[in-house]
Amino acid sequence: MSAQATTATAPDLVRPEPAAEPCTIVIFGASGDLTRRMLLPALYNLMVDKALPPQCPIVGYARTEWGDGEFREHAKQAIGEFSRRPIDSASWERFAENLFYVAGEYDKTPHHSRLADRLEQLEHERTVPGNHLYHLAVPPSAYAPIIHELGQGGHVRPHGAGGRWSRIIIEKPFGRDLESCRNLNRVLHSVFSEDEVYRIDHYLGKETVQNILVFRFANGIFEPVWNRRYVDHVQITVAESIGIGERGRYYEESGALRDIVQNHMLQLLSLVTMEAPIAFNERWVRDEKVKVLEAIRPLSTEDVRRYTVRGQYGRGIVNGTPARAYREEENVSPDSTTETYVGLKMFIDAWRWGDVPFYLRTGKRMRKRSTEIAIQFKKVPHLLFREFLVEGASLEPNLLSMRIQPDEGISLMFHTKVPGSPLRIRPMDMDFTYVPTDLAAAPSAYETLLLDAMQGDATLFARNDEVEAAWRITDEYLKAWEELPSPEFPNYQAGTSGPEEADELIEADGHSWRPL
Ligand code: BG6
Repeated sequence: MSAQATTATAPDLVRPEPAAEPCTIVIFGASGDLTRRMLLPALYNLMVDKALPPQCPIVGYARTEWGDGEFREHAKQAIGEFSRRPIDSASWERFAENLFYVAGEYDKTPHHSRLADRLEQLEHERTVPGNHLYHLAVPPSAYAPIIHELGQGGHVRPHGAGGRWSRIIIEKPFGRDLESCRNLNRVLHSVFSEDEVYRIDHYLGKETVQNILVFRFANGIFEPVWNRRYVDHVQITVAESIGIGERGRYYEESGALRDIVQNHMLQLLSLVTMEAPIAFNERWVRDEKVKVLEAIRPLSTEDVRRYTVRGQYGRGIVNGTPARAYREEENVSPDSTTETYVGLKMFIDAWRWGDVPFYLRTGKRMRKRSTEIAIQFKKVPHLLFREFLVEGASLEPNLLSMRIQPDEGISLMFHTKVPGSPLRIRPMDMDFTYVPTDLAAAPSAYETLLLDAMQGDATLFARNDEVEAAWRITDEYLKAWEELPSPEFPNYQAGTSGPEEADELIEADGHSWRPL
């Protein structure tokens, strides 16, 4: 027996897209990795899709001593390597005409003045209005100097002055704890108003993450059971088989909690647990997300000890290939106590979720890559079929699994009768899987988010109070971990499902992690 989803015949509902407003995009960190892998390919694809305004200068700024020609050459290689579409020469020619580069330091006023002059000149030549979209693709230490210079140099249009706007896209990490996050927000707000700030969490640009809201709120049948009366517990997994690659220096300062839990996982958690917003827009969606984050139960040091597991990978085999231990990675201290795995149990103190446990886990160098949200429903209240269950067996409760990646889709496990006698009950999955070619043809997370920022729609970006709420939660773990003795690392082998203590954490409640 098998079950699958097919498209129904009713017409699609389509949200009208406002046009991207003509603007100049300024990328700080234009010679860096993020620009190469994500931003340039995303902008290229947006142009091919005619989503960019026809005249849309893209000005790269970085310390590397390049001119326009070298930046264009770099962009061509980057797009050739990372674009979801192959590069074609006519499109490339059109794209290249819009690429410019200014070399400069991030904290030198005369260098920023050069940039401002170049922007003015380009806008004049191309008769584009002076709308500016700044993208900070730089290390966090450069955020404050750049924002300060933008404020000083007069190339930020103060809050829509003269009908022109300036917006700033900023990458994670937004600070490394609540205090530094608040400081960063203060720096941002000294130059930009909150509605001009677009904090990127690329998970929010993923098709399957956006689908969480559609699944919950475009269907009438799930919300009535989406609460403590019917849900037993929820598991959120972000497992990666990759290690830390060449990012040892960054990761040593970050660890899995800051790298994944504080942002991506709390975003997933808030989308799954928030109340229905009154409209799908930046105000109401974000208001509801903040409310649910604020409702996460505060933890004492003792609670953190009981409800969290930290792990770090040792050597092992991942996908058939030997992998070294975290402590053997480049730029990692040989006695590092940085966690590459976190397992957590948390509660949301709100009417809908009172006492429902949420289990979260994330790790590098796990058995396989899998991001999933699993809603485990309660057992049936009365079991009719008790007499033919063998001793100790039980009827597994229904489970709804939202597969964020890979193998993107949603499945609902339910029980059916196998035809014939004797009466036999079998668990089945009603499964919806995205057509892989549809997903491959869909815009990347960065395409979606860059376009949203150009359209002035911040629904899929994190607001200041949202990131502060997420840091409030994260800080409790960080502070308690500082006080508690560090675990014996390494405590899981690369290529496995994580530390044994994480299994014990969930098994103590009579549950087990979803198999990876
Ligand atoms: C990034 C983290 O934010 O997300 C990386 O810094 C992680 O460590 C990545 O690998 C995961 O993103 P994705 O889209 O591959 O799930």
